[in-house]
Amino acid sequence: MEALLQQIEQYKKEIAAVEASTAEAVENFRIQYLGTKGLVKSVMGEMKNVPNEQKKAFGQLLNEFKSFVENKFEVLQAAITNTDAGTENQIDWSLPGSHVPVGTRHPLSMIRNQVVSIFKSLGFAIAEGPEIEDDWHNFGAMNLPEDHPARDMQDTFYINQNPSWLLRTHTSSVQARVMETQKPPIRVICPGRVYRNETISARAHCFFHQVEGLYIDEHASFADLKQTLYFFVQEMFGKDVKVRFRPSYFPFTEPSAEMDISCLICGGDGCNVCKHTGWVEILGSGMVHPKVLENFGIDPNKYTGFAFGMGIERICQLKYRVNDLRLYSQNDIRFLKQFTGVV
Ligand code: PHE
Repeated sequence: MEALLQQIEQYKKEIAAVEASTAEAVENFRIQYLGTKGLVKSVMGEMKNVPNEQKKAFGQLLNEFKSFVENKFEVLQAAITNTDAGTENQIDWSLPGSHVPVGTRHPLSMIRNQVVSIFKSLGFAIAEGPEIEDDWHNFGAMNLPEDHPARDMQDTFYINQNPSWLLRTHTSSVQARVMETQKPPIRVICPGRVYRNETISARAHCFFHQVEGLYIDEHASFADLKQTLYFFVQEMFGKDVKVRFRPSYFPFTEPSAEMDISCLICGGDGCNVCKHTGWVEILGSGMVHPKVLENFGIDPNKYTGFAFGMGIERICQLKYRVNDLRLYSQNDIRFLKQFTGVV
């Protein structure tokens, strides 16, 4: 046994000294020492000559020897892999890089971010709510009881399983949820996707995006509404744009007004975007109807408020001259990649 032990020590010395600088030499090492007819196998074969009482200690020794050889093999292999990198596989840092295309923000997201940041600068907070709504938050609370003819203004998608569920037709539903949970003063904007049952065409779509706003405080007045919206328009479209208010009707506001701006496409001379009037409607607004305040336990004798709502697609159309609403949701890269560099 003593002889075998010495022999193993001898092998270890030999193996430790082996050098191999090519893949071929490393493979030869593997065959010579670790292959099926290799040294490790034959040394292991000596186990059968070891007396039983020494088998345990000897087995351990042989296993150590095997790990020693395997370890050496790994070291040799790692060394040539590294050297290979130094020759054939090395990265040539001077080569021009390959272009990795990065996405761009969707134009509607860019406009929404701009609108949101303008109102944020005035102290409005962002509020969000569910796209699947119940009748109360979308209509009832907004002073549109069942059978109210104004419900026809917003063709609604109802949910089959439960006829009192629907896809929200405006983000006024989020304002309802805010009034339900917060006490005045309230200053929120509600960006989000809304749905209406419209036939899809260049000028209409079954979903679009809005930013609505709600301001409730003591003494909030129509002058505050106008000034807030003037500020917004100037920030959004520049100082030269002209603004006009037209009396209008919404069940949830009284009085109500729609706001037009001078057409950015033709500068007010008349074109088909402004239907040759020189003006384009960009939002609806008004003083919150006392009934709406009452629906949420807000005393209309103490508090007043104003609200407004605008379509992001319309603003985007004016800013970027997109003339077909369908382009926004077709995901055509040629369309989307034209909008870069903003927010
Ligand atoms: N909710 C209205 C719409 O979707 C917009 C609006 C909001 C009008 C607030 C007045 C006040 O058309």
